[in-house]
Amino acid sequence: MSDSPFHSAPYAARSADAPVSRDAGSSGVPSSAPEDVGARAGSAAHAVPAVGDAPSCGTSPPHESARAQVQGLAPYVDDVPEPRGTLHAAPILSPVAHGRLLGMDASDALARPGVRAIVLEADIPGDPVLATFVHDEPIFARDVVQHVGQVVGLIVADTVQAARHAARAVKLDIAPLPAVLTIEQAMAVQSFVLPPVTVARGDAPAALAQSAHRLQGRFAVGGQEHFYLEGQIALAVPREQDQWHILSSTQHPGEVQHWVAHALGIDNHRVSVECRRMGGGFGGKETQAGHMAVWAALAARKTGAPVKLRLDRDDDFMITGKRHPFAYDYDVGFDDQGRITGLALDMMANCGFSADLSGPVADRAVFHADNAYYLGDVVIRSFRCKTNVQSHTAFRGFGGPQGVIAIETILGDIARTLGKDALDVRLANLYGPRGATERCTTHYQMRVEDNILHDLLPELERLAKYRQRQQAIEVWNARQPHLKRGMAITPVKFGISFTATLFNQAGALVHVYTDGSVQVNHGGTEMGQGLHTKVAQVVADELGVPLARVLVTASATDKVPNASATAASSGTDLNGKAAQAAARTVRDNLAAFVCGLDGCGAGAVEFRGGKIVTPKAERAFADVVKAAYANRIQLWSDGFYRTPKIHYDKTTLTGRPFFYFAYGAACTEVAIDTLTGEYRVLAVDILHDVGRSINPAIDVGQIEGGFVQGAGWLTTEELVWNEQGALTTKAPSTYKIPAAGDVPPHFAVHLWPEANAEDTVFRSKAVGEPPFMLAISVWEAMRQAVAAARADGKPVQMDAPATPERVLRAVSGAW
Ligand code: MTE
Ligand code: HPA
Ligand code: MOS
Repeated sequence: MSDSPFHSAPYAARSADAPVSRDAGSSGVPSSAPEDVGARAGSAAHAVPAVGDAPSCGTSPPHESARAQVQGLAPYVDDVPEPRGTLHAAPILSPVAHGRLLGMDASDALARPGVRAIVLEADIPGDPVLATFVHDEPIFARDVVQHVGQVVGLIVADTVQAARHAARAVKLDIAPLPAVLTIEQAMAVQSFVLPPVTVARGDAPAALAQSAHRLQGRFAVGGQEHFYLEGQIALAVPREQDQWHILSSTQHPGEVQHWVAHALGIDNHRVSVECRRMGGGFGGKETQAGHMAVWAALAARKTGAPVKLRLDRDDDFMITGKRHPFAYDYDVGFDDQGRITGLALDMMANCGFSADLSGPVADRAVFHADNAYYLGDVVIRSFRCKTNVQSHTAFRGFGGPQGVIAIETILGDIARTLGKDALDVRLANLYGPRGATERCTTHYQMRVEDNILHDLLPELERLAKYRQRQQAIEVWNARQPHLKRGMAITPVKFGISFTATLFNQAGALVHVYTDGSVQVNHGGTEMGQGLHTKVAQVVADELGVPLARVLVTASATDKVPNASATAASSGTDLNGKAAQAAARTVRDNLAAFVCGLDGCGAGAVEFRGGKIVTPKAERAFADVVKAAYANRIQLWSDGFYRTPKIHYDKTTLTGRPFFYFAYGAACTEVAIDTLTGEYRVLAVDILHDVGRSINPAIDVGQIEGGFVQGAGWLTTEELVWNEQGALTTKAPSTYKIPAAGDVPPHFAVHLWPEANAEDTVFRSKAVGEPPFMLAISVWEAMRQAVAAARADGKPVQMDAPATPERVLRAVSGAW
């Protein structure tokens, strides 16, 4: 029994550099993971609180809401006291994937106690089509229904339960039409939400023809439900003279405002949207929160009362879009070293019934189909398939994971075909190192200037004792008839910026009150990622005051207008810079004021430790503020930021879409049971680049959370639509997200110690999404374990997620 990776003596190792790594340690399994994880990487700052006069950035004060959250004192939309007379709405859902809507009988529903109204297309005073980019999504299905779960209308009632029960009692008369449910069906009939896009460099067919080796394949990866803990919700409150206030759990208050105004047929200035925090968004509240707000507002308009719409979890599954499932067809050429010498890749995204964000998602998949590797002659075709399912949307990585997994899967199979170590094949394919002139340009014509992976990957290889462990695993596998281990290191290179250049702007307000306390408001939203904490740290340091003096307030469209979504991992990059600019203006005002008193140059004034220091005097910040107020000095300011250097051509997908890249790598070891297909992730070592970390504890949390969420996508989280197009995995009973027990027993996270080469706030790097793709090392380790079981030197045919059933089939070759 002691040899089994599933039941064994406790894993004893703890990382030597505990300050930057977390090792779940005690309960576990004998992976071959290192016992003394090295100390070079990372800063010692993790979990060290700011003390005394020290600046806050680079230390790890707790999340601004952490205490309130654990005490149940941090309100989410549903916790806010309801205005008097609040009614509740529930959606009426289509039970048919595609059909003609012939009629509706709501008499039963409307006769129920507490039911107040039904809201349908005829109740929309403005445009009945949502104000999305492509303008292809009706607010309520009309004439035709396009997926199971599409919202046809709403029932409004005194209580949420009355509304939900009544909504289910509405009878719909639908004449079914043929439905397109899969990527294969969509490709066969050329059903697209947007036209295909091709990005090519060189002559891929000729390069392929001349390649020493060639491999063709086809595989697919599944979608993913966001499973935010707080479901979708909005509360719409009518105010005086056709003005509206919306509380929304949204990553994009500005878009909610725009959509609501558009549906109500009024100007944007009549609608204000507020979001204090979300209980998770993960991309699922970038556009999809807007639907709740529009529906609630229409119900409020019809009834004249405040209306809350909180989706039941099952309805949330049925209505809202998910990560895009993808399918791939590839033809790759390579030399004896495994270096790619030609690639033709078709990427087919299942977009669901409308475009939503599918255009930019599929674009980002194309931008990440190289991951960290120089592809040479390449042609990538991207198809945006229209199907009769939920409209798939943003999800952490935003198409990036679906691009990265394609090339990582291909490289893994190249290595297995050649009988080479997969890390060696990956190293041979990397973009040129920093300062190199060759193999540095991406297939979309952006130069990779700061490729740190030639340093980072060998460092992780050393930290994780990759080579020794691979040998140990080979020996172990040879002795084991039924259990097989696999290990893989995969890197990530993730482009930071919204690919739509215009979104890369942000605004902020910094108010200093006469007691010296500071309030910050910016266009970003808090979804648990720690954005408000980091922005407060930046402002505190700019003004030289303790963090406790700075408060970030709820995101609101009437404070900072036209803000972009908090997305693309750019929340801190954008809003941190905007808030810093606002704080700098106030600081300059105060500096000029004390210079007037002390007769010094503004450059000689220091703001630190809650004091303002000139060569002549040291004064408390609050005292200077009071005196400045008395002298009519402006104590508040706005700030604005636009990301420099970026540009790109939307039609050819070429240019510099990204300000910089965030890098990282993970080494994962797994064990599979070849008799059952069950598996365990035994050990994970991560070395990730967050530049100079503003808050190392928050960054490590993002890396851990992103990794585990990515592992869920590739292992247990399986979305199953039945032949009628209904999602059958629509609750936690059937849709399995990772739980605490799925966190690997050895889980060490290290931060790469270098600052960002580009001028970002504090020289930090974005962290929200890139670590998600580190979980592709789990996928590759599993495929390595399957290869060990098969021992035939052939590519491993498997689709993701690698459920036990799929692992079993892959082992047996019955793909
Ligand atoms: N972390 C938590 N706790 N909750 C979330 O919803 N969303 C992720 C990531 N980390 C998310 C999260 C996604 S999809 C993005 S784009 C970024 O956070 C957005 O925040 P940022 O730009 O401030 O990093
Ligand atoms: N990432 C995330 N969200 C987005 C993007 C992006 O690149 N573009 C538009 N919305
Ligand atoms: Mo994140 S998918 O960009 O909201």
